[in-house]
Amino acid sequence: MSKEVILTGLRSNAEFHLGNYLGAIKPMVRLQHELKGEYQLNMFVPDLHSFTTQIDHSRLYQQTIDNVRLYVAAGLDIEHPDTYVYRQSRIPAHSEMTWILSCFTYFGELGRMTQFKEKGGDEHDSTSAGLFIYPVLMAADILLYGAKWVPVGEDQRQHLELTRDLAIRMNNKFGQELFTVPFEWNKQLEFVGIDKGVRIRSLRTPEKKMSKSVEDPAGTIMLSDNPDEAAKKIMSATTDSVGKINYDWGKQPGVTNLLQILALSSDTDQDKVNQQWVGKDSYGELKTAAADSVKDLLETVQSKLKEVDSAQIEAKMTADEAKMTTVADSTLAKVQAAVGLRRK
Ligand code: ADP
Ligand code: TRP
Repeated sequence: MSKEVILTGLRSNAEFHLGNYLGAIKPMVRLQHELKGEYQLNMFVPDLHSFTTQIDHSRLYQQTIDNVRLYVAAGLDIEHPDTYVYRQSRIPAHSEMTWILSCFTYFGELGRMTQFKEKGGDEHDSTSAGLFIYPVLMAADILLYGAKWVPVGEDQRQHLELTRDLAIRMNNKFGQELFTVPFEWNKQLEFVGIDKGVRIRSLRTPEKKMSKSVEDPAGTIMLSDNPDEAAKKIMSATTDSVGKINYDWGKQPGVTNLLQILALSSDTDQDKVNQQWVGKDSYGELKTAAADSVKDLLETVQSKLKEVDSAQIEAKMTADEAKMTTVADSTLAKVQAAVGLRRK
C-alpha cells in the first residue's frame, strides 16, 4: 500500500526572520525527522503564489533556491527517499487543475477569504485577480497528490477548508472516488502536535508579532543578520517596569517574549526555562542569556548554510519534479475525464 501523503508549501519570495524559523521552519524539520519512513512528504515550493502581490521578480529565482538552502541548513533531509521537493511552476498540472477547480468555486466563497481581504485592501480595482483566485491554486496543490495531511497554521485554515469543500463538492457531482478529501484543520493540528500559540513577538513592540511585513528592523531579527548585531537587538529589547520576571503575555509581553525566544532557540522546554528565570529580578541577565542563545543559533545556521550545495538542491528538485509530474498528470487526467474533457 502506498504511504499517506503529508504536504506542506514552503514559501519562496521573502527572506526569513527568527519568528519564521522558530515558528515554522524548525517545526517542519522536526516533523520530517519524526515521520519520515512512515509517510510520504511532499515539501514543495509554491513559487506561482509568489507574485499574487507585487515583488522584485529579478530576485525570485535566487530567493527560491536560497530558501530551500535554508531549510537544508535547518536540518531538512532532502535526500530521504520519502521526501519530495519540487517547484509548483515546473508541474503544469497545478495550473490546469486550478482552472478546472475555479469553475466549481463560487465568487462569494473566495471573497470571504480573510487573507484576500487583508492583503487586497479596499482598492479592489487594482488588486490582482491572482490574489483572489490563489486559494484555488492551493486546493490544486493539495488535491493533485491526494494529500490527507496538510498541517497549516491558523492563517491558512480557511484555505484548507475551501479545499475540503471543493473536493466534497466535486465528489458529490462526479463520483466519490475523484478526490481524496484532506482531514479537517483540528485533526491536522492534533496529528503534528502543532502548538498554534508559538508567536515570536517584535523586540520593540512586543504586543505585535515579529513580522517582515512591518517596518521594524530593530524589532526583527533576520536569519541573515550579523550574530553580534542580533545580540545587540535583544539587549535593547523593550521590557517593562514591573521589575520581576514573569511568564505573562498580557502584563509582561516583552519579558515573556525573551523567555520564549530563549526556550525555542536553545531547544529547551519552556517550563524548564521558566523554572530557572521566573521570580528573578535581573532583566539584564535574561537578555544576555537570550542574546547568547540567538547568537549561537545564527552562527550555526549561517555556517551550515555555507556548506549547502545549491547544485545538489537543483538536481534533487529537477528529479522530483519529473516524478511528481507523473502523479499530478494522472490525477488531472482523471478529473479531465470526469468533467468531459477526455473519454472515460
Ligand atoms: P510574515 O508575518 O513575516 O509575513 P508569514 O506570514 O509569511 O510571515 O509566515 C510564514 C510562516 O512563518 C507561517 O507559517 C507563520 O505562521 C510563521 N510565522 C510568521 N511570523 C511568525 C512569528 N512572529 N512567530 C512564529 N511564527 C511566525
Ligand atoms: N498558502 C500558503 C502560505 O501562504 C502556502 C501554500 C501554497 C500551501 N500551497 C499550499 C501550504 C498547499 C500548504 C499546502 O503560507
